[in-house]
Parts: sequence; C-alpha cells; structure tokens
Amino acid sequence: KHIVLFASGSGSNAQQIMAYFKDHPQIKVVALFSNKPDAYALKRAEAFEISSFSFTREEYKNGVLLRQVESFKPDLLVLAGFLWLIPLDFLQAFPNKIINIHPALLPKYGGKGMHGLHVHQAVLEAGEKESGITIHYVNEHYDQGGSIYQHTCPVDPNDTPEQLAARVLELEHTYLPRIIEQLLLSSP
Ligand code: GRF
Repeated sequence: KHIVLFASGSGSNAQQIMAYFKDHPQIKVVALFSNKPDAYALKRAEAFEISSFSFTREEYKNGVLLRQVESFKPDLLVLAGFLWLIPLDFLQAFPNKIINIHPALLPKYGGKGMHGLHVHQAVLEAGEKESGITIHYVNEHYDQGGSIYQHTCPVDPNDTPEQLAARVLELEHTYLPRIIEQLLLSSP
C-alpha cells in the first residue's frame, strides 16, 4: 500500500509517519510533496530517502502535479500540515483517499485560516475544557469532510496557546500513523 504525504511546514507529522512505516511489511511512504520549496518537511523526507518534491500553485492547479502524484499509484494521500485547499480534480482522482489532520475537535475551530496557534488561541478564548485532534476525509471545503477519528485532551485555563499546541501535537504524532495503518489494512 502506497502513501503520499503533503506538508507545508516543519513536517513533524510527516516525520512520525515516515518513521512509523519505515520497515512496514505492507505499507510504504512513496513520496512527499510540499508547496513550499524551503519546507523542512522536504529535508525530513530526504533523510528517509523518500522522493520529495516542491510545486508551484500553477502546477497544483493545472494538472501537472496531479499526474505526478498519480504516477506513484497512491492508496492514500495524507495532508500532514498542508494548508492549501485540495482542487476538485484531486478529489475526483482520489475519492475517499485523501485525509487531513486538524489540531482541534471539528466541526468547531475549523475552516480557512484556522491553523497554527490561531486554533489554540480560539479554544482558550472560548474557555473550552477540552481540545484534541480530528482526522477526517478531505472534501472541497476546508476541514468539512467526514470525520474518521477524534481524540481529546484536557485544556487548563492557565494554558498558553503554545502549551496547548504542544499537547495537541503529541496526540497527532501518536494517533495519525495508527489511523493511517488501520485505514490501509482495512481497505481491500
Ligand atoms: C499541525 O498542527 C497539524 O495539526 C496542522 O499543521 C501542523 C503540522 O505540523 N495540520 P507539522 O508540519 O506536521 O509539524
């Protein structure tokens, strides 16, 4: 089973996934793509000797990138900290095969621009008692695809956004690889 990763930033989630499947008998991370040529995620892929590519918005929109991704014959596309909306032709090419990790309990605290510390600031400002992660299928709207898995963590009123972010990121690192494995081993 082939996984293709998409990352826009540091790629700590991508790192966890590449490490988790490094010597897996049935599942292999075959490529990592980034929309940022300087994304540290690209360096992390190189360290795992996994093909890594950056792409322009032009290539993302005009089908060039889609053909390149298709050439890897992916069974699952994982958005591991990827901030662009997925174009319709990707959704049509990979129906129910694109998943995203969001650092909050959707449907609240989701949508365009809700990423990074903004999410955790909003959770804290709202006085939430808990937060967590949502792993979901991707559709044409930000963070609105069908939910696959959620895991909660406590929120302390004295938390800083950074402290909450770190607690949530730990959940991402722990559960995303395992959910990916379950999805790929349960699908025909
Ligand atoms: C994480 O907070 C994740 O929830 C969000 O983007 C961030 C990715 O971090 N989708 P990293 O690039 O995997 O370290």
